[in-house]
Amino acid sequence: MPIVEFQNIFLRKKDEKGNEVEILRDLSFAVEPGAVYALAGPSGSGKSSALRLINRLDDYSDGQIYIAGQEVKAWDIRELREKVGFMFQEAALFQGSVMENLLYGPCLRGLKKCKSEPTALELLDKVGLPAELLRRNVESLSGGQKQRVNLARTLALDPDIILMDEPTSSLDPAAANTIENLIQELNQQGKTFILVSHNFEQIERIAAACTILQAGRGIFSGTPRELFSDQSMAKLLMNGKGAKVDE
Ligand SMILES: Nc1ncnc2c1ncn2[C@@H]1O[C@H](COP(=O)(O)OP(=O)(O)O)[C@@H](O)[C@H]1O
Ligand SMILES: [Mg+2]
Repeated sequence: MPIVEFQNIFLRKKDEKGNEVEILRDLSFAVEPGAVYALAGPSGSGKSSALRLINRLDDYSDGQIYIAGQEVKAWDIRELREKVGFMFQEAALFQGSVMENLLYGPCLRGLKKCKSEPTALELLDKVGLPAELLRRNVESLSGGQKQRVNLARTLALDPDIILMDEPTSSLDPAAANTIENLIQELNQQGKTFILVSHNFEQIERIAAACTILQAGRGIFSGTPRELFSDQSMAKLLMNGKGAKVDE
């Protein structure tokens, strides 16, 4: 059974003028448990909008999304957000120490481990950061370190599924590589990832499967290998050297 399944999803919103816009149109795809799954497509094609539906940062207009066999709207929102973690595009860290940032999620939920230094150290260790960073202000960290703290924070509630919106787009290649390695390591420990990426080399390196979006529709779902061997897709990706699909 897929761990996340989109069935004929439509998302409609009103723009500033009050006109209805269709952001997602009949989008279907299925993510197997334990996969790294990628969503790709041009800017404005609906990738972030699709991701936000998975832990109910937004609600779809038509269709169904199933998480572990249960429709997303039937989940208790608190349980859903413990199962599905979201790592935001911009490092969503607040002014304060690394430890405060790491324990923010557990604190909000009133969990005991909320003030626990060992918990924070364990989280730092999971993302390969040294213990001495614990008391540092996040402002003093490099972009790559911030993004690792951001990932560690997402891990604090031990989600089975981790959503990431362009996790490496603002990082230099070395820092991006570290994040990719962490994704693969955590994936081997059983976590499922759904990530928005506009980097096809990255998708080829780490994704088991992907869906390509264009104007809110899914125009391809399959493995990266199938994607690159599909003539019509290859042509589309080559058009503008992937600049279109690549942002
Ligand atoms: N709240 C909203 N109201 C109206 N249009 C929106 C809203 N949110 C997103 N859009 C539009 O939906 C489309 C898809 O946006 P988005 O999901 O952010 O695309 P992507 O992440 O692929 O760049 C864009 O054209 C965007 O302008
Ligand atoms: Mg986006």
